[in-house]
Amino acid sequence: MGRFEDPQDALFKAINTSLGYDQRLYPEDIEGSVAHAEMLAAQHIITTADLEEIKTGLAAVKKELDAGVFPFNDDDEDIHMAIERRLTELVGDAGAKLHTARSRNDQVATDVTLFTRRRAQATVDRLNKLMQVVYDQANAHRDWAMPAYTHLQRAQSVYLGHHLLAYFWMLERDRTRFAAVVESSSALPLGAGALAGANFETDRELVAARLGFKSVAPNSMDAVANRDFVLDFLSAAATCATHLSRLGAEIVLWSSEEFGFAEVSDGFASGSSLMPQKKNPDAAELLRGKAPRVLSSLTTLHGVMHGLPLTYNKDMQEDKEALFDAVDTLELCLDAATGMLEGITFKRDRMADASSDQMLAAVDIADLLVRKGVPFREAHGIVGSLVRYSVAQNKQLGDLTDDELAQFSDQLGDDYRALLSGNGWIESKVSQGGTSSESLNAQFELARAALN
Ligand code: ARG
Repeated sequence: MGRFEDPQDALFKAINTSLGYDQRLYPEDIEGSVAHAEMLAAQHIITTADLEEIKTGLAAVKKELDAGVFPFNDDDEDIHMAIERRLTELVGDAGAKLHTARSRNDQVATDVTLFTRRRAQATVDRLNKLMQVVYDQANAHRDWAMPAYTHLQRAQSVYLGHHLLAYFWMLERDRTRFAAVVESSSALPLGAGALAGANFETDRELVAARLGFKSVAPNSMDAVANRDFVLDFLSAAATCATHLSRLGAEIVLWSSEEFGFAEVSDGFASGSSLMPQKKNPDAAELLRGKAPRVLSSLTTLHGVMHGLPLTYNKDMQEDKEALFDAVDTLELCLDAATGMLEGITFKRDRMADASSDQMLAAVDIADLLVRKGVPFREAHGIVGSLVRYSVAQNKQLGDLTDDELAQFSDQLGDDYRALLSGNGWIESKVSQGGTSSESLNAQFELARAALN
């Protein structure tokens, strides 16, 4: 029966099927079907007896899928067909009525929207956890001095608490982006039919309410052609994965003998099959290494969607593997980052040692001259020459004699020596958002507020 005389070619089936991966949408598919059937009954499009049979049947189907004993057929193209086929086997005619006023196009869009919304919410929850751990570690190391870098060259001293909070704010922006994905996946596609709407007096508001959508997609063509919410998720995921890659990269550096700033716990490290001394920060390396994979999902889906004529095209079936891989990869990375940061230890002495490098006070010396009326650009030049001289002489800035200093400026006296004798140049970064204890306290206040 139907449009075709000949069976499908095995190769056609192979390229056409999505069952292998869209199975994981079965909870959303069944929920969507129950809501759809309830609406059909409420609108007297099917009878209440039909509805009861459909609900009983779908519950049985769900049980089979949950238990992993669902009998898949060779002809099931995707999870949507498989579920409807099995439902009809189980309850007969009533099952065959389920697809009234619905198409697989609005059905799959609905399933993917529900899935995306849930994963976006779950990602927000994971981010909250990770932000808490970052906050706690920052708080525990509020006043540990360390060098901070540009171009991976020692630049200025900061507190480790300040450095770690930089990641807190990246994650806070990620959280905002995923919260926006929850919003962009809150319009119901179901009821759009194949593309033009349905020939029945449906009640889409009822379906929306039942499935937790905030609104009904206002245009049936846009509803089935839209995958923006997946692009939004993937875009947020790519940015978040990039943040985690930077965190991972720093921990890899800090774990090296050369830096010696940190050590990951045994639980988050591996050894070498050959070299007995090795302790490798693999999790941190993989935070770095997995980020491009998440980005590739975003570029994949942009590639799939760009230039596609309205409305649904089978190309769009390719949304799922990109989405699922990004979801799984990012969730694993977030959890692993959380676990790794919980157990990491920092090396106070090594950091303090590196941060007592007097070169890190160069800007502070220049600013000392600025306070005495030397224009900043001129002061910059003076200190630059001073640095060049001390490097050539193989001397610390603080070891230069008064005569040597006088060659560069007559304003480098006691206050110059006082500046270099302590770690005071961290505490002088008093501007809003700076690393001084006072500014950092204010930042911790903001972070605490962001956590609540
Ligand atoms: N498996 C398809 C997908 O994921 C479901 C929609 C199919 N619709 C259709 N008209 N063939 O995109």
